[in-house]
Parts: sequence; C-alpha cells; structure tokens
Amino acid sequence: MKVLVSPTPADTARLAAEHLARAAAAAITERGAFSVALSGGSTPKLMYAALRDLNVDWSRVHVYFSDERSVGPDSADSNYRTAKDGLLAHVNVPEAQVHRMEGERDPHQAAADYAALLPDRLDLVLLGMGDDGHTASLFPDTDGLKAGGRVTANWVPKLDTWRLSFTFEEINAARERWLLVTGAGKAGVLREVQDGMGGVDGHPVAGVHDAVWYLDTAAAAQLSL
Ligand code: 6PG
Repeated sequence: MKVLVSPTPADTARLAAEHLARAAAAAITERGAFSVALSGGSTPKLMYAALRDLNVDWSRVHVYFSDERSVGPDSADSNYRTAKDGLLAHVNVPEAQVHRMEGERDPHQAAADYAALLPDRLDLVLLGMGDDGHTASLFPDTDGLKAGGRVTANWVPKLDTWRLSFTFEEINAARERWLLVTGAGKAGVLREVQDGMGGVDGHPVAGVHDAVWYLDTAAAAQLSL
C-alpha cells in the first residue's frame, strides 16, 4: 500500500488537491490534456473546495465519473451534482468536456453508452471507500465485482437500487488511482483490507491495484505502516 497520512480530513483533501493540480500540469505538458474520473463521498467534497483555489488549466481537463446513483443530475444524491456544485460551477471546464453518467436512464443502456464515450485510458481515477469496503459502486457480494468491460449496471440488494459503476478493469487500466479515505469509522475496514480479510467479495476496495491512499490520522490508526 502506498499511503500518505495527513492530520485531518481537510489536510488530506488539500494534499490530494495539490497532487491533482501537479498531475494535471504534467499530463497537459506531456499529452495536451488531463482526464480525471470523480466519485461520490465526503472527502472528494472537501477536495473540490481545495481545488478551486489552485492553479489548473481547466480548459484542458476532461471530467468523467467513476460511479453514479439512479437519479437525475439535479438530485441531491447525484455525484454529478455534488461535483458541479462543489467544483465545476466554479472553474472553467468547457461543458463539452464534462461527461456525467446518466443515472436517470435504463442502467444497462446508460452503462453501455458511458463505456462508449470513455477515452482509451484515463489519467486518474479518484475513489472513496465506504464503511463496508465498497469503492465506486462496487459493493460486497454484488455481480458488479465480476463484471467485465468498462462500465457496469450493478444491482445493490442492500440498498435496493441500481448503481452505475466503473468495473475493476476500467479502474485498474487508468494511469493512476487515488483512494481518499478519512475518519475513525474507516480504520477497522482499512486494517482488514491490509490483512487481506474477506478478499475482494468482502472488501471490494481490495480489487483496486497500485493505488495511492490519501488518509487522515484517524483512518490510518490501525494500519501497520
Ligand atoms: C458514492 C461513492 C462511494 C463513496 C464511498 C465513500 O457514490 O457513494 O462513489 O464509493 O466514495 O462510499 O464515501 P465517504 O467518503 O462519504 O465515506
């Protein structure tokens, strides 16, 4: 595990935002553009606020999403809406370069259409980890864990809903993967992930390879580093 520990969730978000600004500058210099997939959760929200103050050439940034709930873009539950309110409304990413997952549509069709618009390879996938070890919308013991292709419609029984999600294949094919995880509530699960407990079925985040983990002290408390 490559782990970067910061004192508080705000520090974690600021560090990741600074690294994102640096990664964007490097990709733009090398390839003329930077593609990043955002996700839901509380830590990205803090990171969006930190990113607004940094120097990024947003005109060269292409924004995607690693997962989405079964809702339209105006819903308070929409990951797109969270990113829009927290970041996209405040920076100059051209509208044509923001690609949301269409959670309001038939999930299978929406997943297939989204897979078709993805670039060959994303530069960066940002992810969180839920209390149950899920990441993106790949939840424990769901069919999505074994899905092939790039994007899957994943039925999540415990939430009684469909989710759209990147597959592990897509997540692991990106140039980089960063996991942003904060709070004491995640410490036990992180320890279990480090110990390999339950495998990918039990803790889906274990299916993400070669990630950089941005943690706060509380989340990292039980790890052996
Ligand atoms: C979502 C997510 C999900 C999230 C984790 C962590 O749509 O909910 O993409 O994978 O990142 O549940 O969320 P927190 O950071 O709020 O704990």
